Amino acid sequence: MVEKPKISVIGVGYVGLCTAVGFASKGFKVISSDVDTNKVAKINEGVPPFHEPNLPKMLKQTINNGQLKCLANQTQNAVLETDITYIAVGTPSKPDGSIDLKYIETVSRDIGKALGQKSSYHVVVVKSTVVPGTSQNTVKPNLEDQSKKTCGDDFSLCMNPEFLRQGSAFQDTFNADRVVVGSYDKKSGDIIEELYKEFYHPKTPPIIRTSLATAELIKYASNAMLATKISFINTIANICEKIPGADVKTVATAMGLDKRIGSLFLDAGLGYGGSCFPKDVKALIACSKAFGYNPELLDSVENLNHTQPLKAVEFCKQELGQLEGKTIAILGLAFKPDTDDMREARVIPIVNQLLKEGAKINVYDPVAMNMAKTIFQNKINYASSAINCIKNADASILVTEWEEFKKLIPDDFAKNMKQPILIDGRRIYNPEIYSKKLKFTAIGLGK
Ligand SMILES: NC(=O)c1ccc[n+]([C@@H]2O[C@H](COP(=O)([O-])OP(=O)(O)OC[C@H]3O[C@@H](n4cnc5c(N)ncnc54)[C@H](O)[C@@H]3O)[C@@H](O)[C@H]2O)c1
Repeated sequence: MVEKPKISVIGVGYVGLCTAVGFASKGFKVISSDVDTNKVAKINEGVPPFHEPNLPKMLKQTINNGQLKCLANQTQNAVLETDITYIAVGTPSKPDGSIDLKYIETVSRDIGKALGQKSSYHVVVVKSTVVPGTSQNTVKPNLEDQSKKTCGDDFSLCMNPEFLRQGSAFQDTFNADRVVVGSYDKKSGDIIEELYKEFYHPKTPPIIRTSLATAELIKYASNAMLATKISFINTIANICEKIPGADVKTVATAMGLDKRIGSLFLDAGLGYGGSCFPKDVKALIACSKAFGYNPELLDSVENLNHTQPLKAVEFCKQELGQLEGKTIAILGLAFKPDTDDMREARVIPIVNQLLKEGAKINVYDPVAMNMAKTIFQNKINYASSAINCIKNADASILVTEWEEFKKLIPDDFAKNMKQPILIDGRRIYNPEIYSKKLKFTAIGLGK
């Protein structure tokens, strides 16, 4: 039997940890490394440092059986002990929206130093989302400069973008729609293709082989498309609100049945958030402009996403007039259900605007309360349950569509609130039922 390659993963955030646990659970030896010592300690105890369904059990199992270990700040040792290294560090935005490659720079230099000491062939795989040209023009030169070796001889380079969704990240790791393998040369691409065939055996998803730059662009094009679908349906929602009797939900359902359109990502709401869509759309705009093309469509997608959450505040004002001294309850803080991630969550501009208008704010989220405390500190009130959150409020805004909130019935609002005003920012409540007992407003619902 051919021995499985050993894998290192540098950066164990959402992507890196799911990748590491995924490979370890399939019998690969995995060594990961991260600069965040608290994260490393938790992982070695078998506890994920973030909320992600289904991950805890498999993490514990792979740590306990020794398939996975996590090192603190030891990129070079992780590389030296393995055959393939995944780069999964963050690629945040700079203030102008362009991509900040500082972590990619550091890690690729560290990997390069280790490659200089290795005698066996090694493949470096960029999994972080990076703008087209980064693997070729930033990662490769750093690896070559530090190792004093030539890419394509003793080591080589692949780009393998990640498409997982937070909240179902772990299942997505095992059930990819497609795998994209961009490679500097054929040999390294073949190795990574084989790795995935073994990983997914016997049901390998389509594997797309391509250049490094095309692989990089596929990731941005995919996220930009999804963000565009969201801003598109939000535009239709905003039109619906002006037309008596129109409802975006029915419009989207009917549109989605058209196979050319599809139903996913046609949920009108308060806009998209999270660590990927906002940053990736901005980075694609900046990168496209740097290449000499102005992507006007993407500018519009992004602009709409800035104004969309503030509609929740406008709805409040339509019902209550001035918000000074009024209590507003916010249900849901995470950028989407099943995660505690609040990066670019749409609730942030909503809370900031409500505070500016002088409102008092109660919030509740099933898992993101601690995260919210680091963002809003003592400027708002943190409730212990959904009912406590809406108690005595003048208006409630549904911001994140958690299952728990779908179970709230009209009487929960009517009996607990000072004024029964409900704003459904994610279209989870049936207008016919909820408007009987409440003053009910929803995104995309013509009055
Ligand atoms: N989160 C997602 O849903 C998702 C999905 C697809 C792609 N991506 C992309 O994957 C990349 C990682 O995203 P994430 O959400 O996992 O980020 P994250 O912020 O959760 O994790 C990144 C990790 O890298 C670590 N790190 C930074 N510098 C390091 C260094 N020098 N050495 C070792 N570790 C270092 C950080 O401590 C952190 O733990 C980004 O490019 C992101 O755009 C994310």
